[in-house]
Amino acid sequence: MSKYIINGGNKLGGKLNINGAKNAVLPILAASVINGKENVIIGYPNLRDVNTMVKILRSIGCKVQKTPESIVINSENVNSFEVSENLVREMRSSIFLMGPMLGRCGKIKISYPGGCEIGPRPIDLHLKGLREMGVKISEAHGFLECTVEKLKGSEIHLDYPSVGATENIMLAAVLAEGTTVIRNAAKEPEIVDLQDFLTGMGAKIQGAGTSVIQIDGVKNLTGVEHKIIPDRIVAGTILASAAITKSEIIIENVIADHLVSVLAKLKEVGCIVLEKNSAIKIIPPSVLKSVDIIRTLPYPGFPTDMQAQFVSLLSIAKGTSIITETVFENRFKHIEELIRMGARIKVDGRVAVIKGVPKLTGAKVTAKDLRGGAALVIAGLAAEGRTIVENIVHIERGYDNLDIMLQNLGADIRKID
Ligand code: EPZ
Repeated sequence: MSKYIINGGNKLGGKLNINGAKNAVLPILAASVINGKENVIIGYPNLRDVNTMVKILRSIGCKVQKTPESIVINSENVNSFEVSENLVREMRSSIFLMGPMLGRCGKIKISYPGGCEIGPRPIDLHLKGLREMGVKISEAHGFLECTVEKLKGSEIHLDYPSVGATENIMLAAVLAEGTTVIRNAAKEPEIVDLQDFLTGMGAKIQGAGTSVIQIDGVKNLTGVEHKIIPDRIVAGTILASAAITKSEIIIENVIADHLVSVLAKLKEVGCIVLEKNSAIKIIPPSVLKSVDIIRTLPYPGFPTDMQAQFVSLLSIAKGTSIITETVFENRFKHIEELIRMGARIKVDGRVAVIKGVPKLTGAKVTAKDLRGGAALVIAGLAAEGRTIVENIVHIERGYDNLDIMLQNLGADIRKID
């Protein structure tokens, strides 16, 4: 089982280029099934989840060529309507195939995506939206069998601004008959990127980034070439690494506008944050300040995907901070590991109370999920002595060689298999 070995205490420095966003490229790869044409995706992150989605696309008949520069998907010959169980288990984002396959072929059989490390991850809002568009869905033996004659445009109100449900319904609506309006839609930047990809192939969509998205069904679509937006969570993770090690660094190829709530909290911690074109420079304080409260919320609120990284950062701030995780049910698994490193944190349900300590000490810790694992790496960078982070397969799902990124900034971190 691969692990990271980190010797803490190094100052970081220099510049780092941020790669494409995992949570943009996954729905966009699924969307490439819709048009039956050749689609070129550039600036994608080379992640485990991307490779799994490519495997799924090939398994249903798409021709996919993946080079370091681009992924080219030709979806002309989609010839299977079943997504295998082991692939769905490998990556729950395979549910993004429901919308495109129902639009393209009118059917899909997919195994029920299980929960994952951070919660049960229900898909009731996805299914409710698709049923309102006329899809017949039978749930039996752990599978979802979906069929529809012709998807029909509908007025859909989401009880919660679910990112995945918003995207799945958008994907189904592109080829539906008539107009679909999604209200209380999620507003994440990755949804705007998906809209740009879809309109690039001729779909008629407007409103992504706001809570009302309107999609007018079309009949014909062309191929499209699209560059993936930078990953705001990777950017936030690197900035938190700089802050916790009191290091001045610059990150490039970022969209600061996607990080407003994270930059605001870094400033509350005492960092100076300078934005110039598509770069951000961070200058941390010598002593990190605690933050009264951070509540994770749907975009543009503070992102749940940055919660764990901030728990690590605030564990050595001066004073007590409170973090409330309002989005997922079980996303504090990194905290027991941080306590092994000397953090003083109390968890009560969805609230974590973090009493800052002067320093953390290196320990053997285990990554339990993607962002929690990244948080342990961040803690290890600042901890005194050696930290061993085990089970880094979780981290590799969302970070393209996090160890190399940090090595390039001067961290003493290496991966051993
Ligand atoms: C996306 O997950 C991201 N994943 C997550 O990133 C991110 O944390 C999350 O959005 C919130 O921003 C991808 O984009 C691939 P949701 P998603 O549907 O779509 C509940 C990472 O670390 N819900 O907005 O699954 C759900 O249980 C990952 O990169 C329902 O109840 O998130 C959760 O409590 C982790 N019913 C809340 O909504 C539904 O039908 C938010 O889920 C759907 C969701």
